[in-house]
Amino acid sequence: MRAAVLGADGSVTVQDVEPPAPAAGQLLVRVRAAGLNRADLSARAGAAQAGPAVAGLELAGEVEAIGEQVSRWRPGDRVMGRGSGFAELAVLGAADAIRVPPDVGWEEAGAMPVTLLTAHDALVTNGRLRAGELVVVNAGSSGVGTCAARMAGLLGAGAVVSATTSRPKAAAIRAAVGPLPCPLVVTDVTGDEFVAAVRGQSDDGQGAHLIVDSVGARVLGDNIAAARVTGRIVQVGRLGGRHAEIDLDELARKRLTLVGVTFRTRSPAEGAEVVRRCVENLGDQLTRYRPRIDRVFPLGQITEARAAMLRNEHVGKLVVVP
Ligand SMILES: NC(=O)c1ccc[n+]([C@@H]2O[C@H](COP(=O)([O-])OP(=O)(O)OC[C@H]3O[C@@H](n4cnc5c(N)ncnc54)[C@H](OP(=O)(O)O)[C@@H]3O)[C@@H](O)[C@H]2O)c1
Repeated sequence: MRAAVLGADGSVTVQDVEPPAPAAGQLLVRVRAAGLNRADLSARAGAAQAGPAVAGLELAGEVEAIGEQVSRWRPGDRVMGRGSGFAELAVLGAADAIRVPPDVGWEEAGAMPVTLLTAHDALVTNGRLRAGELVVVNAGSSGVGTCAARMAGLLGAGAVVSATTSRPKAAAIRAAVGPLPCPLVVTDVTGDEFVAAVRGQSDDGQGAHLIVDSVGARVLGDNIAAARVTGRIVQVGRLGGRHAEIDLDELARKRLTLVGVTFRTRSPAEGAEVVRRCVENLGDQLTRYRPRIDRVFPLGQITEARAAMLRNEHVGKLVVVP
């Protein structure tokens, strides 16, 4: 089969490789589409696999075959989940698979799992979102940012602030987040404007209850300034650097919770637990989290897709189809 294979330096080349075989508890999936994620640009992705490291972190497709000890899925089922998706065939843990809702297309489904699970884990499990709260997301136009803003609004936030480095993207961010039952404010991610915009959205001027942060070092001080007493900051990405100096007295004075999350150190059981919580909590609402697809690339153009992601011109998701 054709697959994008990851080199040690983080580059990818499309090659013919042996198709994977589903082990016990796994599904073999004929990939229809696979979303591109920021972590795909790093050499870490795929490094834990045996044999050629097929790139990709998520996919959607039809179940082609099932391994032993799989009872819930049948050949032909439409599934999506986290796995090495830049290939014609991929394996997916049966416990990691999510049924694709009937009205979700392949390109949307292939680009959904990582942002959906990351947003739910950050907002609900680690962020402990409660109705009426003020939620901030940054990297506002990113796959994670657009999904987290929508999820926060649909799960009952009182207002959502989406912070971006690119104000010209504001209209596209609004369109990608979609209509919400609460106000959505798009603001600049850095500086005084950010802190003022967040405080201005809270009834009492005290700031955010919950911040889902993909930018990291560059904005940590601003996030702490924009958070209210007992606020929570969930650190999901370090696009703006990993080393920051912070005022621990402000952290203590506000009694903030600063929590980091990643899939990298989760065991298979912990990964499956993230899926279970998300699917049980969102139920038949999953269809509302269809991502905005910015651009679709054939597998042979995966290098162009990665270059497009680095340019940061997209809003929502870039997708690769085999
Ligand atoms: N913890 C987890 O489990 C988990 C899972 C998935 C993703 N992530 C992380 O979440 C982040 C977003 O991933 P993604 O795949 O959704 O990204 P993406 O779609 O490639 O979005 C990137 C966007 O981030 C913003 N950005 C880029 N460089 C920046 C910088 N130096 N400073 C500030 N903002 C910057 C830009 O948005 P604007 O133009 O709107 O500013 C850019 O368009 C990444 O850090 C990724 O590693 C974490």
